[in-house]
Amino acid sequence: MTTAPDTALETAFKITRKTDGISAVERERLVADPGFGRAFTDHMAVITYTEGRGWHSPEILPRQPLMLDPAASVLHYAQEIFEGMKAYRAPDGGILLFRPEANARRFQKSAERMAMAQLPEDLFLEAVDQLVTIDQAWVPKPEVGTLYIRPFMIATEAALGVKPSAEFKFIVIACAAGEYFSSDAGAVSVWVEENSVRASRGGTGIAKCGGNYAASLTAQMEGKAHGCHQVLFLDAEERRWLEEMGGMNVMMVFEDGTLVTPPLDTGTILHGITRDSLLTLARDNGLTVKEERYAIDQLYADAAAGRLKEVFACGTAAVVTPIGTFKSGKGDCTIGDGRSTGPVTAKLRQTLCDIQFGRTNDPHDWVKRVV
Ligand code: PLP
Ligand code: COI
Repeated sequence: MTTAPDTALETAFKITRKTDGISAVERERLVADPGFGRAFTDHMAVITYTEGRGWHSPEILPRQPLMLDPAASVLHYAQEIFEGMKAYRAPDGGILLFRPEANARRFQKSAERMAMAQLPEDLFLEAVDQLVTIDQAWVPKPEVGTLYIRPFMIATEAALGVKPSAEFKFIVIACAAGEYFSSDAGAVSVWVEENSVRASRGGTGIAKCGGNYAASLTAQMEGKAHGCHQVLFLDAEERRWLEEMGGMNVMMVFEDGTLVTPPLDTGTILHGITRDSLLTLARDNGLTVKEERYAIDQLYADAAAGRLKEVFACGTAAVVTPIGTFKSGKGDCTIGDGRSTGPVTAKLRQTLCDIQFGRTNDPHDWVKRVV
């Protein structure tokens, strides 16, 4: 059974350095203006799992295409999970990770839901550490961005019977990254999806698995056709309650200073690490925080009445991004002036980024130094 406890790790990481990489000049050109998700670093970390043997053969090797049997389970039954995290350049030139153990733990939860092997937390952390260390020249200056890190696991057993795979690869890749939304986007616009849903109770919404994102793409395309940057999903049962966006959580700020975000007890929303961090920072700042259901009709009514002052998206890629407009089959709804970043949104973003980039003290011990 793939979820059985692992045998001991067989070897330490074997490191094979890339010898024919791009020039330092070309790398610096990419790192100075990386965009999002395309300026990939030179190396990757790979660890293999085989039933009966456990995790073995950890390696850092030059980034390269994967060899997969065409019958590999991931290609047919989508046994795949991933994480998203970042490395930040500190004022002294060092490199920091933000709550990496939270990503390692969420990865284990996702693996459990998708009947995949459990990767020990220390192995996850060591793979990330090793990759960031060897590719440290790819971490941009703080004014440009971060190193976006993408750990993932795929089912590699060649078997067409529907069952949990007996073999997996855990891989970590990384890319230099600027803003997820282009900086001229300002406050973004969001399409409220009223037809398809992202997750239902008992489904896989709580897991960070590729299938959730595949299922969100038609709504994302519809949103784009309506001129929107992102899509907001509603609950599957009543199509009424705000859940989350395609790749980020959502938060509302009201005129009395209360911060509201959808609760996690439905099991349909990703437990965002940015979400959790912002709720903590908001409480630290004396805001009243409520994790409670909030209806889309209420959002339109509160925005029109001026009670709803700010709405923002939050996640590793999005950081904290103000939302200026919601659009749906029912019409448009503008938050504030539709363009500006509200004061609570701005303050939370600043406080979070100052901690992540090591510019201020870190009262919750969230930041871990790699280099
Ligand atoms: N919700 C979804 C669907 C996401 O893809 C993400 C991004 O990872 C988040 C929420 C935010 O999670 P985190 O803050 O851990 O990045
Ligand atoms: C992240 O924020 O890390 C995600 O995985 C979401 C995706 C939109 C890039």
